[in-house]
Amino acid sequence: MNHSVSNPFPWYKKMSAENPVYYDKDYMHYFGAKGAWHVFRYHDVQTVLYDWENFSSEYAPKVDNILSAAIQVTDPPRHKQLRLLVSKAFTPNVIENMKPWIQEITKELLDKVADKGEMDVTVDLAVPVPIQVIAKMLGVPYEDRDKFKFWSTIIVKNPTEVEGGVNGYFQAQQEMAQYFMNLFEERLKDPKDDLISHLQRVDLEGEKLSEQDLLAFCITLLVAGNETTTNLISAAIYTFIENPEIQEHLYQYPEVIPTAIEEILRYRAPVQYINRIATKDVELGGQTIKKGDLINAWMGSANRDASVFENPDTFDLNRTNLKHTSFGHGIHFCLGAPLARLEAKIVLELLFSQFKQLELKDTSKELEMNEINLMFSIKSLPIVFKKR
Ligand code: HEM
Repeated sequence: MNHSVSNPFPWYKKMSAENPVYYDKDYMHYFGAKGAWHVFRYHDVQTVLYDWENFSSEYAPKVDNILSAAIQVTDPPRHKQLRLLVSKAFTPNVIENMKPWIQEITKELLDKVADKGEMDVTVDLAVPVPIQVIAKMLGVPYEDRDKFKFWSTIIVKNPTEVEGGVNGYFQAQQEMAQYFMNLFEERLKDPKDDLISHLQRVDLEGEKLSEQDLLAFCITLLVAGNETTTNLISAAIYTFIENPEIQEHLYQYPEVIPTAIEEILRYRAPVQYINRIATKDVELGGQTIKKGDLINAWMGSANRDASVFENPDTFDLNRTNLKHTSFGHGIHFCLGAPLARLEAKIVLELLFSQFKQLELKDTSKELEMNEINLMFSIKSLPIVFKKR
Protein backbone atom coordinates (compact mmCIF):
# COMPACT_ATOMS: atom_id res chain seq x y z
CA MET A 1 0.00 0.00 0.00
CA ASN A 2 1.42 3.30 -0.97
CA HIS A 3 -0.96 6.19 -0.71
CA SER A 4 -1.51 9.45 1.09
CA VAL A 5 -3.68 9.40 4.23
CA SER A 6 -4.94 12.92 3.45
CA ASN A 7 -5.84 11.92 -0.10
CA PRO A 8 -6.21 8.16 -0.55
CA PHE A 9 -8.91 8.69 -3.22
CA PRO A 10 -6.74 8.51 -6.37
CA TRP A 11 -5.38 5.17 -5.10
CA TYR A 12 -8.95 3.89 -4.55
CA LYS A 13 -9.92 4.99 -8.05
CA LYS A 14 -6.96 3.22 -9.62
CA MET A 15 -7.52 0.05 -7.61
CA SER A 16 -11.30 0.02 -8.26
CA ALA A 17 -10.59 0.14 -12.00
CA GLU A 18 -7.64 -2.25 -12.16
CA ASN A 19 -7.72 -4.54 -9.09
CA PRO A 20 -11.10 -4.18 -7.37
CA VAL A 21 -10.53 -7.29 -5.21
CA TYR A 22 -6.82 -7.49 -4.59
CA TYR A 23 -4.59 -9.69 -2.42
CA ASP A 24 -1.74 -7.81 -0.76
CA LYS A 25 0.63 -10.50 0.54
CA ASP A 26 2.81 -7.99 2.42
CA TYR A 27 -0.01 -6.30 4.31
CA MET A 28 0.61 -6.40 8.06
CA HIS A 29 -2.27 -6.06 10.47
CA TYR A 30 -1.31 -4.52 13.81
CA PHE A 31 -2.02 -7.77 15.66
CA GLY A 32 0.51 -9.57 13.49
CA ALA A 33 -1.54 -11.26 10.74
CA LYS A 34 0.22 -11.03 7.40
CA GLY A 35 -1.55 -10.64 4.06
CA ALA A 36 -5.03 -9.28 3.39
CA TRP A 37 -7.55 -8.77 0.61
CA HIS A 38 -8.48 -5.21 -0.27
CA VAL A 39 -12.02 -4.70 -1.58
CA PHE A 40 -12.78 -1.37 -3.26
CA ARG A 41 -16.10 -1.30 -5.15
CA TYR A 42 -19.37 -0.28 -3.52
CA HIS A 43 -21.36 -3.49 -4.09
CA ASP A 44 -18.44 -5.76 -3.10
CA VAL A 45 -17.85 -3.74 0.07
CA GLN A 46 -21.56 -3.94 0.91
CA THR A 47 -21.47 -7.73 0.36
CA VAL A 48 -18.49 -8.20 2.66
CA LEU A 49 -20.09 -6.09 5.41
CA TYR A 50 -23.53 -7.69 5.07
CA ASP A 51 -22.80 -11.39 4.52
CA TRP A 52 -21.70 -12.39 8.01
CA GLU A 53 -21.97 -16.10 7.24
CA ASN A 54 -19.15 -15.92 4.70
CA PHE A 55 -17.37 -12.87 6.11
CA SER A 56 -17.04 -13.18 9.87
CA SER A 57 -16.31 -10.38 12.34
CA GLU A 58 -14.38 -12.77 14.60
CA TYR A 59 -11.02 -11.77 13.18
CA ALA A 60 -9.53 -10.47 16.44
CA PRO A 61 -7.08 -12.87 18.12
CA LYS A 62 -8.52 -14.45 21.26
CA VAL A 63 -5.88 -13.05 23.54
CA ASP A 64 -6.16 -11.60 27.03
CA ASN A 65 -7.81 -8.48 25.73
CA ILE A 66 -11.11 -7.23 27.10
CA LEU A 67 -12.11 -6.13 23.64
CA SER A 68 -11.78 -9.56 22.01
CA ALA A 69 -15.27 -10.41 23.32
CA ALA A 70 -16.86 -7.12 22.31
CA ILE A 71 -19.97 -6.76 20.16
CA GLN A 72 -18.22 -5.54 17.00
CA VAL A 73 -15.97 -8.60 16.83
CA THR A 74 -18.62 -11.28 17.42
CA ASP A 75 -20.92 -13.16 15.04
CA PRO A 76 -24.44 -14.47 15.66
CA PRO A 77 -25.80 -15.99 17.81
CA ARG A 78 -23.75 -14.14 20.46
CA HIS A 79 -23.83 -10.92 18.45
CA LYS A 80 -27.63 -10.97 18.26
CA GLN A 81 -27.94 -11.40 22.03
CA LEU A 82 -25.48 -8.62 22.80
CA ARG A 83 -27.04 -6.27 20.26
CA LEU A 84 -30.54 -6.82 21.67
CA LEU A 85 -29.33 -6.19 25.19
CA VAL A 86 -27.42 -3.02 24.45
CA SER A 87 -29.94 -1.59 21.97
CA LYS A 88 -32.46 -1.48 24.78
CA ALA A 89 -30.25 1.00 26.59
CA PHE A 90 -29.47 2.93 23.41
CA THR A 91 -32.93 3.97 22.28
CA PRO A 92 -33.88 7.15 20.35
CA ASN A 93 -35.22 8.49 23.63
CA VAL A 94 -31.87 8.13 25.38
CA ILE A 95 -30.18 9.93 22.50
CA GLU A 96 -32.80 12.69 22.41
CA ASN A 97 -32.31 13.28 26.15
CA MET A 98 -28.64 13.92 25.53
CA LYS A 99 -29.31 16.96 23.36
CA PRO A 100 -29.09 19.56 26.17
CA TRP A 101 -25.83 18.05 27.52
CA ILE A 102 -24.22 18.05 24.10
CA GLN A 103 -25.26 21.67 23.63
CA GLU A 104 -23.88 22.59 27.04
CA ILE A 105 -20.56 20.81 26.43
CA THR A 106 -20.17 22.43 22.98
CA LYS A 107 -21.09 25.92 24.20
CA GLU A 108 -18.52 25.70 26.99
CA LEU A 109 -15.80 24.72 24.49
CA LEU A 110 -16.75 27.47 22.01
CA ASP A 111 -16.86 30.10 24.78
CA LYS A 112 -13.26 29.24 25.67
CA VAL A 113 -12.01 30.23 22.20
CA ALA A 114 -14.54 32.90 21.17
CA ASP A 115 -12.47 35.94 22.16
CA LYS A 116 -9.23 34.54 20.81
CA GLY A 117 -10.53 34.45 17.24
CA GLU A 118 -8.62 31.24 16.64
CA MET A 119 -8.60 27.60 17.67
CA ASP A 120 -7.31 24.20 16.75
CA VAL A 121 -10.55 22.55 15.59
CA THR A 122 -9.34 19.04 16.43
CA VAL A 123 -7.83 19.77 19.84
CA ASP A 124 -10.29 22.40 21.09
CA LEU A 125 -13.55 20.98 19.75
CA ALA A 126 -13.59 17.73 17.81
CA VAL A 127 -11.67 15.63 20.39
CA PRO A 128 -13.29 16.87 23.63
CA VAL A 129 -16.95 16.81 22.51
CA PRO A 130 -17.32 13.03 21.97
CA ILE A 131 -15.18 12.11 25.00
CA GLN A 132 -17.18 14.34 27.30
CA VAL A 133 -20.47 13.10 25.85
CA ILE A 134 -19.55 9.45 26.44
CA ALA A 135 -18.26 10.18 29.94
CA LYS A 136 -21.52 11.88 30.82
CA MET A 137 -23.60 9.19 29.11
CA LEU A 138 -21.89 6.40 31.03
CA GLY A 139 -22.11 8.32 34.28
CA VAL A 140 -18.40 8.89 34.90
CA PRO A 141 -18.23 11.44 37.76
CA TYR A 142 -17.16 14.91 36.69
CA GLU A 143 -14.14 14.96 39.00
CA ASP A 144 -12.72 11.84 37.28
CA ARG A 145 -12.91 13.43 33.86
CA ASP A 146 -9.17 13.94 33.38
CA LYS A 147 -8.31 10.39 34.40
CA PHE A 148 -10.99 9.09 32.08
CA LYS A 149 -9.81 11.25 29.22
CA PHE A 150 -6.24 10.04 29.70
CA TRP A 151 -7.23 6.36 29.46
CA SER A 152 -9.63 7.05 26.60
CA THR A 153 -7.00 8.63 24.41
CA ILE A 154 -4.71 5.60 24.92
CA ILE A 155 -7.37 2.98 24.49
CA VAL A 156 -8.60 4.31 21.15
CA LYS A 157 -5.12 4.00 19.66
CA ASN A 158 -3.46 1.18 17.82
CA PRO A 159 -1.50 -0.62 20.63
CA THR A 160 1.79 -0.22 18.76
CA GLU A 161 1.40 3.58 18.69
CA VAL A 162 1.09 4.00 22.45
CA GLU A 163 3.90 5.25 24.67
CA GLY A 164 5.22 2.09 26.33
CA GLY A 165 3.96 0.02 23.38
CA VAL A 166 1.60 -2.92 23.77
CA ASN A 167 2.40 -3.11 27.52
CA GLY A 168 1.46 0.54 27.99
CA TYR A 169 -1.76 -0.09 26.12
CA PHE A 170 -2.77 -3.09 28.22
CA GLN A 171 -1.82 -1.28 31.44
CA ALA A 172 -4.19 1.57 30.54
CA GLN A 173 -6.86 -0.98 29.65
CA GLN A 174 -6.42 -2.71 33.03
CA GLU A 175 -6.55 0.56 34.99
CA MET A 176 -9.65 1.61 33.19
CA ALA A 177 -11.20 -1.83 33.72
CA GLN A 178 -10.58 -1.56 37.46
CA TYR A 179 -12.07 1.91 37.49
CA PHE A 180 -15.21 0.69 35.73
CA MET A 181 -15.54 -2.34 38.05
CA ASN A 182 -15.63 0.02 41.03
CA LEU A 183 -18.18 2.19 39.28
CA PHE A 184 -20.34 -0.90 38.52
CA GLU A 185 -20.34 -1.80 42.21
CA GLU A 186 -21.36 1.71 43.21
CA ARG A 187 -24.17 1.75 40.65
CA LEU A 188 -25.50 -1.63 41.79
CA LYS A 189 -25.89 -0.22 45.30
CA ASP A 190 -27.12 3.15 44.15
CA PRO A 191 -28.56 3.11 40.58
CA LYS A 192 -28.67 6.37 38.65
CA ASP A 193 -30.16 7.52 35.36
CA ASP A 194 -27.05 6.74 33.35
CA LEU A 195 -26.00 4.15 30.78
CA ILE A 196 -24.18 1.95 33.30
CA SER A 197 -27.29 1.62 35.44
CA HIS A 198 -29.41 1.02 32.30
CA LEU A 199 -27.03 -1.70 31.12
CA GLN A 200 -27.07 -3.33 34.55
CA ARG A 201 -30.86 -3.42 34.43
CA VAL A 202 -31.39 -4.71 30.88
CA ASP A 203 -32.56 -8.24 30.73
CA LEU A 204 -33.38 -10.51 27.81
CA GLU A 205 -35.43 -13.60 28.61
CA GLY A 206 -33.84 -13.67 32.04
CA GLU A 207 -30.34 -13.04 30.80
CA LYS A 208 -28.31 -10.06 31.95
CA LEU A 209 -25.01 -8.71 30.72
CA SER A 210 -22.10 -10.29 32.62
CA GLU A 211 -19.58 -7.98 34.25
CA GLN A 212 -17.07 -8.82 31.48
CA ASP A 213 -19.63 -7.99 28.76
CA LEU A 214 -20.53 -4.76 30.51
CA LEU A 215 -16.88 -3.82 30.67
CA ALA A 216 -16.25 -4.74 27.04
CA PHE A 217 -19.23 -2.63 26.04
CA CYS A 218 -18.17 0.45 28.03
CA ILE A 219 -14.70 0.31 26.48
CA THR A 220 -16.17 -0.39 23.03
CA LEU A 221 -18.20 2.80 23.26
CA LEU A 222 -14.99 4.70 23.73
CA VAL A 223 -13.17 2.99 20.92
CA ALA A 224 -16.06 3.01 18.46
CA GLY A 225 -17.52 6.37 19.31
CA ASN A 226 -14.72 8.82 19.99
CA GLU A 227 -12.13 9.09 17.29
CA THR A 228 -14.77 8.37 14.64
CA THR A 229 -16.91 11.33 15.68
CA THR A 230 -13.81 13.50 16.09
CA ASN A 231 -12.86 12.69 12.50
CA LEU A 232 -16.33 13.56 11.26
CA ILE A 233 -16.33 16.98 12.95
CA SER A 234 -12.80 17.91 11.85
CA ALA A 235 -13.35 16.70 8.28
CA ALA A 236 -16.61 18.67 8.07
CA ILE A 237 -15.02 21.94 9.17
CA TYR A 238 -12.00 21.39 6.94
CA THR A 239 -14.22 20.74 3.92
CA PHE A 240 -16.28 23.87 4.63
CA ILE A 241 -13.06 25.90 4.78
CA GLU A 242 -11.99 24.44 1.43
CA ASN A 243 -15.39 25.46 0.03
CA PRO A 244 -16.25 28.97 1.33
CA GLU A 245 -19.44 29.10 -0.73
CA ILE A 246 -20.72 26.03 1.14
CA GLN A 247 -19.78 27.63 4.45
CA GLU A 248 -21.75 30.72 3.44
CA HIS A 249 -24.73 28.59 2.40
CA LEU A 250 -24.76 26.80 5.76
CA TYR A 251 -24.72 30.09 7.72
CA GLN A 252 -27.77 31.16 5.81
CA TYR A 253 -29.58 27.83 5.77
CA PRO A 254 -28.59 25.89 8.91
CA GLU A 255 -31.43 23.46 8.18
CA VAL A 256 -29.15 22.02 5.46
CA ILE A 257 -26.54 20.96 8.07
CA PRO A 258 -27.84 17.35 8.38
CA THR A 259 -27.52 16.90 4.58
CA ALA A 260 -24.01 18.37 4.70
CA ILE A 261 -23.12 15.86 7.44
CA GLU A 262 -24.28 12.92 5.28
CA GLU A 263 -22.27 14.22 2.35
CA ILE A 264 -19.17 14.57 4.57
CA LEU A 265 -19.68 11.01 5.77
CA ARG A 266 -19.64 9.93 2.12
CA TYR A 267 -16.89 12.27 0.93
CA ARG A 268 -14.38 11.74 3.75
CA ALA A 269 -15.46 8.59 5.57
CA PRO A 270 -14.24 8.84 9.20
CA VAL A 271 -13.48 5.08 9.15
CA GLN A 272 -11.95 4.13 5.81
CA TYR A 273 -12.12 0.33 6.07
CA ILE A 274 -13.49 -2.48 8.22
CA ASN A 275 -12.05 -5.98 8.67
CA ARG A 276 -13.64 -9.36 8.17
CA ILE A 277 -12.29 -12.91 7.90
CA ALA A 278 -13.53 -15.50 5.37
CA THR A 279 -15.24 -18.52 6.96
CA LYS A 280 -14.92 -20.59 3.76
CA ASP A 281 -13.58 -20.19 0.23
CA VAL A 282 -15.69 -17.42 -1.33
CA GLU A 283 -15.85 -15.90 -4.82
CA LEU A 284 -15.85 -12.12 -4.93
CA GLY A 285 -15.23 -9.87 -7.92
CA GLY A 286 -13.77 -12.77 -9.92
CA GLN A 287 -11.31 -13.76 -7.18
CA THR A 288 -11.34 -16.65 -4.74
CA ILE A 289 -10.90 -15.51 -1.16
CA LYS A 290 -9.64 -18.47 0.85
CA LYS A 291 -11.03 -19.62 4.18
CA GLY A 292 -9.20 -17.77 6.98
CA ASP A 293 -8.06 -14.86 4.80
CA LEU A 294 -8.33 -11.37 6.28
CA ILE A 295 -10.27 -8.74 4.30
CA ASN A 296 -10.20 -4.94 4.36
CA ALA A 297 -13.50 -3.64 3.00
CA TRP A 298 -12.73 -0.02 2.01
CA MET A 299 -15.80 2.11 2.74
CA GLY A 300 -13.80 5.23 1.87
CA SER A 301 -13.48 3.82 -1.65
CA ALA A 302 -17.04 2.46 -1.94
CA ASN A 303 -18.34 5.95 -1.20
CA ARG A 304 -16.47 7.25 -4.26
CA ASP A 305 -17.71 4.53 -6.64
CA ALA A 306 -18.72 6.39 -9.82
CA SER A 307 -21.22 3.69 -10.79
CA VAL A 308 -23.21 4.56 -7.65
CA PHE A 309 -22.45 8.25 -6.96
CA GLU A 310 -22.39 10.73 -9.83
CA ASN A 311 -19.24 12.91 -9.81
CA PRO A 312 -18.07 11.13 -6.66
CA ASP A 313 -15.05 13.40 -6.11
CA THR A 314 -17.24 16.49 -5.80
CA PHE A 315 -18.65 17.57 -2.43
CA ASP A 316 -22.23 18.21 -3.47
CA LEU A 317 -24.92 19.53 -1.13
CA ASN A 318 -27.59 18.77 -3.73
CA ARG A 319 -26.77 15.09 -3.97
CA THR A 320 -29.87 12.96 -3.66
CA ASN A 321 -28.16 9.58 -3.26
CA LEU A 322 -26.77 9.69 0.26
CA LYS A 323 -26.44 5.92 0.68
CA HIS A 324 -22.84 5.97 1.84
CA THR A 325 -21.40 2.94 3.65
CA SER A 326 -19.68 4.92 6.40
CA PHE A 327 -21.71 3.43 9.25
CA GLY A 328 -21.38 -0.11 7.86
CA HIS A 329 -24.13 -2.34 6.51
CA GLY A 330 -26.17 -5.19 7.98
CA ILE A 331 -26.15 -6.62 11.48
CA HIS A 332 -23.21 -4.55 12.76
CA PHE A 333 -24.58 -1.25 11.43
CA CYS A 334 -23.25 1.45 13.74
CA LEU A 335 -25.23 1.52 16.96
CA GLY A 336 -24.01 5.04 17.65
CA ALA A 337 -24.96 6.55 14.27
CA PRO A 338 -27.85 8.66 15.66
CA LEU A 339 -25.58 9.94 18.43
CA ALA A 340 -22.71 10.76 16.04
CA ARG A 341 -25.11 12.59 13.73
CA LEU A 342 -26.58 14.52 16.66
CA GLU A 343 -23.16 15.52 18.01
CA ALA A 344 -21.99 16.75 14.60
CA LYS A 345 -25.25 18.63 14.03
CA ILE A 346 -25.12 20.42 17.38
CA VAL A 347 -21.43 21.30 16.99
CA LEU A 348 -21.90 22.72 13.48
CA GLU A 349 -25.11 24.57 14.35
CA LEU A 350 -23.56 26.25 17.37
CA LEU A 351 -20.33 26.98 15.53
CA PHE A 352 -22.10 28.71 12.64
CA SER A 353 -24.47 30.55 14.97
CA GLN A 354 -21.49 32.17 16.74
CA PHE A 355 -18.61 32.35 14.27
CA LYS A 356 -18.16 33.21 10.61
CA GLN A 357 -15.42 33.38 7.96
CA LEU A 358 -13.61 30.28 9.12
CA GLU A 359 -10.21 30.09 7.43
CA LEU A 360 -6.98 28.15 7.83
CA LYS A 361 -4.57 29.97 10.14
CA ASP A 362 -1.62 29.25 7.88
CA THR A 363 -2.46 28.38 4.29
CA SER A 364 1.16 27.54 3.47
CA LYS A 365 1.16 24.55 5.84
CA GLU A 366 0.12 21.06 4.78
CA LEU A 367 -2.81 19.48 6.53
CA GLU A 368 -1.51 17.55 9.54
CA MET A 369 -3.00 14.05 9.53
CA ASN A 370 -2.70 11.09 11.88
CA GLU A 371 -0.73 8.61 9.83
CA ILE A 372 -3.21 5.74 9.90
CA ASN A 373 -4.89 4.21 6.87
CA LEU A 374 -7.86 3.11 8.96
CA MET A 375 -9.22 6.61 9.43
CA PHE A 376 -9.53 9.96 7.72
CA SER A 377 -8.12 11.60 10.80
CA ILE A 378 -6.96 15.22 10.95
CA LYS A 379 -4.41 15.60 13.76
CA SER A 380 -4.39 19.36 13.99
CA LEU A 381 -6.50 22.01 12.26
CA PRO A 382 -5.55 25.55 13.35
CA ILE A 383 -8.10 28.06 12.07
CA VAL A 384 -9.04 31.72 12.49
CA PHE A 385 -12.59 33.06 12.53
CA LYS A 386 -14.70 36.15 13.23
CA LYS A 387 -17.57 36.47 15.68
CA ARG A 388 -20.98 36.87 14.06
C1 HEM B 1 -19.04 9.37 12.72
C2 HEM B 1 -18.93 8.55 13.72
C3 HEM B 1 -18.96 7.06 13.59
C4 HEM B 1 -18.62 6.25 12.54
C5 HEM B 1 -18.12 6.68 11.16
C6 HEM B 1 -18.84 4.88 12.97
C7 HEM B 1 -18.63 3.78 12.16
C8 HEM B 1 -19.01 2.51 12.50
C9 HEM B 1 -18.96 1.38 11.60
C10 HEM B 1 -18.46 1.41 10.17
C11 HEM B 1 -19.42 0.29 12.27
C12 HEM B 1 -19.61 -1.12 11.70
C13 HEM B 1 -18.48 -2.02 12.09
C14 HEM B 1 -18.55 -3.37 11.40
O1 HEM B 1 -19.38 -3.60 10.53
O2 HEM B 1 -17.71 -4.20 11.76
C15 HEM B 1 -19.74 0.73 13.62
C16 HEM B 1 -20.19 -0.09 14.61
C17 HEM B 1 -20.41 0.34 15.91
N1 HEM B 1 -20.41 1.64 16.36
FE1 HEM B 1 -19.96 3.29 15.28
N2 HEM B 1 -19.28 4.89 14.26
C18 HEM B 1 -19.38 6.19 14.68
C19 HEM B 1 -19.81 6.63 15.92
C20 HEM B 1 -20.21 5.82 16.94
C21 HEM B 1 -20.64 6.29 18.25
C22 HEM B 1 -20.77 7.75 18.67
C23 HEM B 1 -20.89 5.17 19.00
C24 HEM B 1 -21.36 5.04 20.42
C25 HEM B 1 -21.23 5.89 21.35
C26 HEM B 1 -20.64 4.02 18.15
C27 HEM B 1 -20.79 2.72 18.55
C28 HEM B 1 -20.70 1.63 17.70
C29 HEM B 1 -20.90 0.26 18.15
C30 HEM B 1 -21.25 -0.21 19.56
C31 HEM B 1 -20.71 -0.55 17.02
C32 HEM B 1 -20.79 -2.08 16.95
C33 HEM B 1 -22.18 -2.50 16.54
C34 HEM B 1 -22.29 -3.98 16.31
O3 HEM B 1 -21.27 -4.69 16.22
O4 HEM B 1 -23.43 -4.48 16.26
N3 HEM B 1 -20.22 4.45 16.93
N4 HEM B 1 -19.51 2.08 13.72
